[in-house]
Amino acid sequence: MLCLFFLLLTSCIHPMPLSCPPCCFIHLQLELSTAQMIHQARRELLEEMCRSYTRKRRVLIPEDIKHLIVDDQHGLLYCYVPKVACTNWKRVLMVLTGDGRYSDPLDIPANEAHVPGNLRTLSEYTTAEINHRLRNYLKFVFVREPFERLVSAYRNKFTRNYNTAFHKRYGTKIIRRYRADPQPEALEHGDDVSFEEFVRYLVDPQTQLEEPFNEHWERIHSLCHPCLIHYDVVGRYETLEQDSRYVLQLAGVESQVRFPASGKSTTTSEDMAAQFFRNISPLYQRKLYNLYRMDFLLFNYSAPAYLKFRFS
Ligand SMILES: *[C@@H]1O[C@H](CO)[C@@H](O)[C@H](O)[C@H]1NC(C)=O
Repeated sequence: MLCLFFLLLTSCIHPMPLSCPPCCFIHLQLELSTAQMIHQARRELLEEMCRSYTRKRRVLIPEDIKHLIVDDQHGLLYCYVPKVACTNWKRVLMVLTGDGRYSDPLDIPANEAHVPGNLRTLSEYTTAEINHRLRNYLKFVFVREPFERLVSAYRNKFTRNYNTAFHKRYGTKIIRRYRADPQPEALEHGDDVSFEEFVRYLVDPQTQLEEPFNEHWERIHSLCHPCLIHYDVVGRYETLEQDSRYVLQLAGVESQVRFPASGKSTTTSEDMAAQFFRNISPLYQRKLYNLYRMDFLLFNYSAPAYLKFRFS
């Protein structure tokens, strides 16, 4: 068999060549080989979906790569997606690029991880440097079930009283536009947006004509362009621990840094998302599904069973 023959001829050296066939993991643990097969299948499915559902290829523009964080020491490119463990991934990358300044990711305050300038993004480089990195670095992204991510964004930005910036910036506008008879305080503070109002804001064509979606609810495919950038690893929030370990193993840094274990009890689950969608009419559920459809298709998420409209 060709596979076996390949096994005899090569042994994977670190960092593992990502082009190597799934059978060349001779000296790696079984776990790693299983992971490699899972990730290969995910990449193939993504590629197939890209072929079926996206239009012609185009070249990348600087705007497309501003979510890609660069680690030049270890040859990593990470596309960060808000509400998909991105604080912890930024912390890990700060440890890796920090020249010994940090050792434990959790020592880094969450707000510090989001300070622009603490990490470099690919858009800061020259065209030649960008191409070199896209060609040679380990590229990865983490995705999440689109509606769980959306409900998570809603809960985080609109139901916590400390997020006054989002209330002012988006909440006041949403209430002004979609609430029938708003109270003056609601119009002023924008701090009691309902999920239903938020959904109306999202599916209103006017919204995206005015400005791009905020990154917390922008679709993953619009933030990370997985049909233009060939990610080596598409990690999933649902298997965050295994997928993160796999990335750190591929990068050869598992002895330097550990991905923080999730200590969160507030994570949005499917049941919770179902609760939020209960008040949304079938018409708006359908509109919202169409809005996030590419994220469902590209990343192999099926339409949630709690949706009340029929797929044609
Ligand atoms: C896609 O999802 C289905 C259903 O959850 C699963 O059985 C299948 O293995 C997934 N495919 C890939 C490539 O991950």
